[in-house]
Amino acid sequence: MKGSIPLQVLLYATLIRSLKVVSKRGSVDGCTDWSVDYLKYKVLLGEPVRIKCALFYGYIRANYTHAQSAGLSLMWYKSVGHGDFEEPITFDGIRMSKEEDSIWFRPAELQDVGHYSCVLRNSTYCMKVSMSLTVSENDTDLCYNSKMKYLEKAELSKGKDILCPGIDDYIQPGKDPEIVWYKECKPKQWRQSIVRRKDMLSIKEVREDDIGNYTCELTFGNFLVRRTTELSVTAPLTDKPPKIIFPAENKMSIMEMQLGSLVNLTCRAFFGYSGDVSPLIYWMKGEKFIEDLDESRIRESEIKTLREHLGEQEVSISLTIDALEETDLGNYTCFVENGNGRRQANVLLTKRAELMYTVELAGGLGAILLLLVFLVTLYKCYRIELMLFYRNHFGGEDVDGENKDYDAYLSYTKVEPEQWSQESREEERFALEILPDVLEKHYGYKLFIPDRDLIPTGSKFSWSNMKFCVDFSPWLCACMYSSLEIPIRYLCA
Ligand SMILES: *[C@@H]1O[C@H](CO)[C@@H](O)[C@H](O)[C@H]1NC(C)=O
Ligand SMILES: *[C@@H]1O[C@H](CO)[C@@H](O)[C@H](O)[C@H]1NC(C)=O
Ligand SMILES: *[C@@H]1O[C@H](CO)[C@@H](O)[C@H](O)[C@H]1NC(C)=O
Ligand SMILES: *[C@@H]1O[C@H](CO)[C@@H](O)[C@H](O)[C@H]1NC(C)=O
Ligand SMILES: *[C@@H]1O[C@H](CO)[C@@H](O)[C@H](O)[C@H]1NC(C)=O
Ligand SMILES: *[C@@H]1O[C@H](CO)[C@@H](O)[C@H](O)[C@H]1NC(C)=O
Repeated sequence: MKGSIPLQVLLYATLIRSLKVVSKRGSVDGCTDWSVDYLKYKVLLGEPVRIKCALFYGYIRANYTHAQSAGLSLMWYKSVGHGDFEEPITFDGIRMSKEEDSIWFRPAELQDVGHYSCVLRNSTYCMKVSMSLTVSENDTDLCYNSKMKYLEKAELSKGKDILCPGIDDYIQPGKDPEIVWYKECKPKQWRQSIVRRKDMLSIKEVREDDIGNYTCELTFGNFLVRRTTELSVTAPLTDKPPKIIFPAENKMSIMEMQLGSLVNLTCRAFFGYSGDVSPLIYWMKGEKFIEDLDESRIRESEIKTLREHLGEQEVSISLTIDALEETDLGNYTCFVENGNGRRQANVLLTKRAELMYTVELAGGLGAILLLLVFLVTLYKCYRIELMLFYRNHFGGEDVDGENKDYDAYLSYTKVEPEQWSQESREEERFALEILPDVLEKHYGYKLFIPDRDLIPTGSKFSWSNMKFCVDFSPWLCACMYSSLEIPIRYLCA
């Protein structure tokens, strides 16, 4: 038996090889097989369809008339799937007929689904290619099948032509087809700027409500032919880089955190529409990508889409540090990028100063008010008045100037000399040195402190233009900046 094993292997190998030849595109029985053509026929049940032998449309130079006069014959076969058994087709000449280089279905039925091969041959020459045909029913309550839709995109306020595709076989050459257009399968009164020309629907200025499913319909003999195109509308292609919404772009934000605490830096950005590219947003620590830090404590989240409209999106990405360590302190940068450029926002992560209460990176007014509430509870026995003006932009360049010499007014009523003690001296130091230091150096607010900056009348500082004031205690109130005139005495009685 020993000797027969190699023989079996040899036989098996030969068998396999011959099987391979059968399934391979190439030559079978001396016939060159071009496999399945890229053009797939997809029709709705009940529609007429013409399947053309693709050999004459891109594989060989001859047309059908040529081939015939050269003595070549054309034969058709059908198989359920590509590579399956192929059987010759019997044409009844009525519903299914062979006409020159094509077969016609008048109309197509569900049983017609499959692959159709045309074989062109004489005794020495043979060529073959297959075409696939899908016949589907329309979706419930719709005039089309969602899987057979054509897709088109248009940009807002630009022009767009929606074509009724693949109808050449149903119209007489040189004659304009009579096409009826539907939207969402319903007849529509098209607005004046939408015109129907030949085989297309032409929209002059695309609007958002042009989004939808367009069906064109034409008659062919006793049959209807329908094609449906789903139009999506996007914002015009942007010519700008993305914009970072938070933290502030082109500015160093400072975030003070306690060692050991969880840090969560979230970067939010707006991306205009720039085709099908997904938004590029990421964090770096100094010069390093987060994944290159190789620290499992420091992670970058997935990119989250917060909002999306017509292809424009607001996205965010979070950088989290499980428990902050000394080595994590430093410069973190959020980058956003598209084909038009790159923008960045920097955050300097520092150790929290002693006096600071939890101050979120969210900085701005909210954090300061929080800080003040805290300070007021601590020091409410002493008179510290602080007027805080809301600043128009978080970014903080003071360009829109009047009344903007100062953002806040800080007043501290001195303790009477006889009440002086070591403690009250420290409190005065807090009010006149530490508080201004925190607000001015760390947050960049400009304070007006009467003891230091003299009388407000000479400067551009003004009590007008405040939206509302919040009284935190008899000693402190914060006022929002706006264009309303409210007497300050009333607010801070
Ligand atoms: C086939 O090609 C010949 C010459 O290229 C041309 O004269 C003839 O009209 C073509 N026939 C068809 C049916 O297109
Ligand atoms: C078969 O067709 C080919 C291509 O048209 C041609 O070159 C060849 O001479 C034909 N052979 C016979 C036997 O007619
Ligand atoms: C969908 O197809 C069914 C069955 O072929 C047909 O009766 C119905 O009229 C079609 N619906 C529309 C809206 O064309
Ligand atoms: C277009 O058709 C799809 C289903 O095929 C549907 O989900 C979508 O809402 C339609 N569009 C409009 C604008 O109605
Ligand atoms: C970080 O903050 C973002 C936005 O506030 C939030 O969506 C995310 O869940 C937070 N991540 C962690 C790990 O807390
Ligand atoms: C922080 O890092 C960014 C990106 O590497 C850099 O552009 C910026 O100058 C750095 N800032 C400081 C203060 O180091």
